Amino acid sequence: MPLILDGNRVRDQILSELKPRVEALAAGGRPPGLAVILAGHNPASEIYVRGKIKACHHLGIYSESLTLPETITTDELLAAVDQLNGRGDIDGILVQLPLPPQVDARRILLAVAPEKDVDGFHPCNVGRLATGLPGPRACTPAGILQLLMRYGIAIAGKRAVVVGRSDIVGKPVALLLLHENATVTVCHSKTPDLAAVCREADILVAAIGRAAMITGDFIRSGATVIDVGMNRLDRREDVARIFRNSPEKLAALEMRGSVLVGDVDPIAMAEKASAYTPVPGGVGPLTIAMLMANTVESAERRAGIC
Ligand code: GUN
Repeated sequence: MPLILDGNRVRDQILSELKPRVEALAAGGRPPGLAVILAGHNPASEIYVRGKIKACHHLGIYSESLTLPETITTDELLAAVDQLNGRGDIDGILVQLPLPPQVDARRILLAVAPEKDVDGFHPCNVGRLATGLPGPRACTPAGILQLLMRYGIAIAGKRAVVVGRSDIVGKPVALLLLHENATVTVCHSKTPDLAAVCREADILVAAIGRAAMITGDFIRSGATVIDVGMNRLDRREDVARIFRNSPEKLAALEMRGSVLVGDVDPIAMAEKASAYTPVPGGVGPLTIAMLMANTVESAERRAGIC
């Protein structure tokens, strides 16, 4: 039986370790503060932002969410970020992506003060990651490392293959695995014979955003598979094909109108992997846990504790 890497369990561990640190900060003057900026009405972003605010509440972190219109300009958003940069009670600023198309996302990410950049997206912090200096790490990649480490999965000396080269997941997770002494290959849409490269992986990370694209012939028997994908299926034929006519999944589709699937074929993954992250309940919960960790660390640094 493969080991299921339970993201909810690891998230709860991380949050319970953070709780006393939040309490100490609160007792010393004020709790950590996080501001989340959401521009427009992307339904997935709205769900993610609600989850982030709820986690703050649960931990005793002060939070503010700033909801701005879909029509916001780059200059208006820059002004909002600038105002938060100057606030003493805000330790972390997160601008939820994607931004509306008229906004210059690069300029916005560059405007967030690097010491308040709890996403680790500012080029200063990306540089700190690349060179191995301490600093905030992107939340989903940091969460993946926590999952592997807390389940005792060896990384040093292993072959890791990352499918996807995004700034949010693919590139930073590749660097984190490299710093842990894995031999890392980053693949993308132009990689020839992707399946053959993936089959070399002891640790396979799928972060491409395409439902069940990584099928059984991409997975080496006994590999650890990390599925970062979160794709919503709403067509009966897709659910029937991907879940092999599972009556439970077809009933869930009838009831809820959609079913979630990762970037990896879930049945092939369960058959071939020695350890894997389920979707949902794998990588997802870790993203919020690591955001909380980055916010607490930022508050401690700003309070002169670390
Ligand atoms: N959109 C999807 N993932 C993320 C994330 O980790 N941070 C931000 N800011 N936006 C996202």
